[in-house]
Amino acid sequence: MNTGMSSGQGGIFISFEGIDGAGKSTHIEGLAQALRAQGRRVTLTREPGGTPLAEKLRTMVLNDPMDAMTEALLVFAARRDHLQQLIEPALARGEVVLCDRFTDATFAYQGGGRGFDLVVLAQLERWVQTVTPAGAPLLREPDLTLWFDLDPTIAAQRLVSARVPDKFEAQPVEFFRRVAAGYAQRQTAAPQRFARIEANQSRDAVWQDVLATVQSRGWLS
Ligand code: TMP
Repeated sequence: MNTGMSSGQGGIFISFEGIDGAGKSTHIEGLAQALRAQGRRVTLTREPGGTPLAEKLRTMVLNDPMDAMTEALLVFAARRDHLQQLIEPALARGEVVLCDRFTDATFAYQGGGRGFDLVVLAQLERWVQTVTPAGAPLLREPDLTLWFDLDPTIAAQRLVSARVPDKFEAQPVEFFRRVAAGYAQRQTAAPQRFARIEANQSRDAVWQDVLATVQSRGWLS
């Protein structure tokens, strides 16, 4: 099986990751605008979610109490639908897919945060993300993952006044330390794909880092 980085036919798949409160959202929108301004077609999406079915699963995952395995199975079920219905068709059309979270979040939240078995997650990842865009099986992964890395104590302060917290946002800071460690582990395992963005800077400085990272890949001038 090809486990390479190609998204086929010119499509580019970029995911955005980080603990809750790390401040990735405004930059996803900004990057979409910057890419569109240079003539790229962009699909903006998120996980869990992105399709009607996956959005229903998102509501359950974010609100209903359940164990870590149930959470993992639901986010992967949502991911399968999302890949089949939205991500793969967009990449096949040559679009840039900007995805607010992808599988690294499962490794970080269900694996790191909840302590769920990483070997089982890796197996689910293989089953769910094996696609055949040109007839040959390929493990679909982002071409680039922008990881907004922020100290969990600072993230918690940012979240306090933000909104009514969902099931994850309501977790204690220790949970987010484990999630952050989960992300760090994913970066170590895939250093080419992962770009760490220092999120404890002004919004503009973070944006400059995002731009520089995408420019360094040759996807923006
Ligand atoms: P959001 O508020 O950034 O859209 O995040 C949704 C929440 O879902 C966030 O707290 C992280 C969590 N999540 C998981 O626990 N596992 C996953 O696989 C994904 C994609 C998100």
